[in-house]
Amino acid sequence: MIEKIVLTGAGGKLGRRMRLPLSKLCQQLVSTDIVPLAPIVENETVAMVDLQVPSDVNELTKGADSIVHFAGYPREAEWSTILGANILTSTNLWESARLNKVRRIVYASSNHVVGFHPTASHIDIHAEIKCDSRYGVSKAFTEIMARFYYEKYNIQSLGLRIGRCDDLPVDERMLATWIHPADLAEMIRLGIQDQVEADVLYGISNNSRAMCSNPDNPRLPYKPQHSADDYAHDVLASKAPSDTGWLFQGGPYADDDYVGDRSRAGRLSSIS
Ligand SMILES: NC(=O)c1ccc[n+]([C@@H]2O[C@H](COP(=O)([O-])OP(=O)(O)OC[C@H]3O[C@@H](n4cnc5c(N)ncnc54)[C@H](O)[C@@H]3O)[C@@H](O)[C@H]2O)c1
Repeated sequence: MIEKIVLTGAGGKLGRRMRLPLSKLCQQLVSTDIVPLAPIVENETVAMVDLQVPSDVNELTKGADSIVHFAGYPREAEWSTILGANILTSTNLWESARLNKVRRIVYASSNHVVGFHPTASHIDIHAEIKCDSRYGVSKAFTEIMARFYYEKYNIQSLGLRIGRCDDLPVDERMLATWIHPADLAEMIRLGIQDQVEADVLYGISNNSRAMCSNPDNPRLPYKPQHSADDYAHDVLASKAPSDTGWLFQGGPYADDDYVGDRSRAGRLSSIS
């Protein structure tokens, strides 16, 4: 069993849900955030650490085998927010991993890294990076940085391009983008226990309406146990406010603030 895992963003919507499953994979789970936390299981300790402060991050990751990085700002914002919360936190974390010889980092990326692919196309993990927002750019930065730290320093990583994680899909768009928290926990388990280089997967459940798909990779045999299809009838009948009809896979993130001809971003795609 792995000795020590550090979980960042442990007080957040997703991090909170990952604490229990992660505690079962290691002898010691260190759950950390800028908000105060209390331990929920015996082998968990908590730490209040601002990942924007390099010396504190270096202290936090000492002795860790793996890091699960879920801290950050989870939606579009001005650069003044994104730079600190998503880019500086990540550079500090990978740099501390190098100094402290951490073996592996599993981290939350986002489908907004490829949000400017048209909804009419189905993309795989090798699709061109086409960020739809500053938020998406910060996630793409982290993916590229993670590859650099693997190739140069052998810090392995798995980035999860999460769609929308919640207990249930509640609108039409989520029938494509949804991931159940248990499937997300399983992806993280694979990232920690299986053979990883500098990989990236789409964080989705087994949804037939998905606009992207994961490779059949024997190193990372992800088999989602949940499907948004099981809720499609209820979601479509509920007449929840429609969240469909977007030109781009990033939906509102791609649409917001868009200047000029809406087909421009799609035309630049190498996938027509
Ligand atoms: N919720 C989703 O469906 C979804 C979808 C795609 C990607 N993601 C990504 O997953 C991760 C978690 O998302 P979430 O919905 O739980 O977000 P969240 O905002 O609920 O949680 C993020 C946590 O990070 C912490 N944090 C922010 N800045 C920090 C800093 N400087 N130092 C330490 N901690 C800091 C916050 O206090 C918060 O508790 C994010 O990286 C997000 O971009 C989430």
